[in-house]
Amino acid sequence: MAVSESIPAPSNSSAVQDAPKPEPVPGKKLHGREFYKSIGSPKYIVAPMVDRSEFAWRMLTRSFMPPEESKLLLAYSPMFHARLFREEAGYRAKMFQPTRAHAGRKGDDSIYLDGNPAIDRPFFVQFCANNPDDFLESARLAAPYCDAVDLNLGCPQGIARKGHYGAFLQEDWDLIYRLINRLHKELPIPVTAKFRIQESKEKTLEYAKMILSAGASIITLHGRTREQKGHNTGLADWSYIRYLRDHLPPETVIFANGNNLNYDDVQRCLEATGADGVMSAEGNLSDPSIFSKPPPVGSEGREYWRGRDGKGGYRIDAVFRRYLDIIYKYVLEKPAPERKPLYLPSDPEEEHITESDPDEEEGPQRKKQKRGKTETYPNSPNLKFMQAHLFQLFRPLISTHTNVRDALAKSGPHDMATFERTLSILEREVKKGLKEYEQFPERFESKPDPSLTGSKAIIAEYGRPFWVCQPHIRPTPEEALEAGALQEKKGEKKKKQENGEALDKVATSVKSPTESVNTPTTAAKDALLSG
Ligand SMILES: Cc1cc2nc3c(=O)[nH]c(=O)nc-3n(C[C@H](O)[C@H](O)[C@H](O)COP(=O)(O)O)c2cc1C
Repeated sequence: MAVSESIPAPSNSSAVQDAPKPEPVPGKKLHGREFYKSIGSPKYIVAPMVDRSEFAWRMLTRSFMPPEESKLLLAYSPMFHARLFREEAGYRAKMFQPTRAHAGRKGDDSIYLDGNPAIDRPFFVQFCANNPDDFLESARLAAPYCDAVDLNLGCPQGIARKGHYGAFLQEDWDLIYRLINRLHKELPIPVTAKFRIQESKEKTLEYAKMILSAGASIITLHGRTREQKGHNTGLADWSYIRYLRDHLPPETVIFANGNNLNYDDVQRCLEATGADGVMSAEGNLSDPSIFSKPPPVGSEGREYWRGRDGKGGYRIDAVFRRYLDIIYKYVLEKPAPERKPLYLPSDPEEEHITESDPDEEEGPQRKKQKRGKTETYPNSPNLKFMQAHLFQLFRPLISTHTNVRDALAKSGPHDMATFERTLSILEREVKKGLKEYEQFPERFESKPDPSLTGSKAIIAEYGRPFWVCQPHIRPTPEEALEAGALQEKKGEKKKKQENGEALDKVATSVKSPTESVNTPTTAAKDALLSG
């Protein structure tokens, strides 16, 4: 079908009357809000992340949801390349392991990890594609193991430009329509799409309507333009998401994405955008508990830490333990080593004085812990990306606690004992930190300072002591420009020089916080980052 026949004309009116109506699909496939309700109306969404949103990470994030709310958390797979997924069994085996046979155990079709109905749902699989046949055939291979298939229309990287996918399809509406519509008509499960804001709200709305009219059941809007990446990531503009909410029919299911770094942000984003769900990527990688409500004061237990100023978060050592235990239980299918309870300063001192020094344990310890050898699934993405995840999680302490960094650098999927050793060293450092806090809490607190601006103000607001999961704050595009990490586009620079203007803005369409309605809390949020 020609796109021009099916794209509703752009409208300035409040759009409910020109609601995009995809053609009905034969059979019983659910669509749109009906489908969304059938999977539990998830409000919290783990973003698709290449090399990062694999099964074990999704499970770690899911582990923070109370069991009765488990369906409120939807997770996306990393983006898979549709043509490779369709054509190459080897690529599929490395990326996607819904059964043991997929993971390399020939003849064993029992359910294993990705999309496991008992533990890893709701779950969407994302593809990049530019050919409807590839998209459909790869989606067919994934469909038995997920709830929906998503089309990536947001990837802004050079590799996407080269391969003509992601955000570089956004000039080719005819192709996007055909990709989505083909799955809408022929795939037994729904198709969804994730895309970036366009140059104006009106254009973004028109784009969303086209995607919906092709048959997308759910749309995710990332509130940044294609140019907002790397040092130029800057602020996501939630007002675009609000605009779609206000101009699309209420039955349209919308997920909001961009700038959610902690639980409070997620709640603010739901409120400000009116979206059905909020998706997080960077925030989730720094703190996998981002979607879970902090425990009430007095019920912190051993895993959650709260300072005397009321600020807190899950302890990095606690999260590391959970992560390892998930790897043992689900991926390696072996018991985790027995562990002492996490340290609390209120523990009787004698329980901990006989500890050996993990820094000196390397030789004998590694020999003893044969249990950890991971020869069973050498190709597992869940093992392969552990170290990278942990470097991201440990960011608050990695530059100050070089012993933890060095131990992690030597850790690898070949031998779980290497990660166990890193855990021991980390736990010892956290213990020291907690003890120091007991004596000198002021060393770990930042006093309110209204003179702070840019990323420094954000760090003051979101920063926590090193033992607590917290977002990583990058410099603002303006700061990056000043530091020379970001170059102005040549044409723009020349124009400014000709006009005698100061280099006061980055070249692309980064919005200043004051232009953004409904963006998160403070102007200083400008410092936030994204992939
Ligand atoms: C490590 C990483 C990998 C990503 N991979 C994907 C991907 O596979 N597909 C996709 O649509 N977006 C991908 N993104 C973008 C995120 O899904 C998300 O749209 C973006 O980071 C903005 O959300 P945030 O502000 O919560 O980080 C990735 C982001 C990161 C940080």
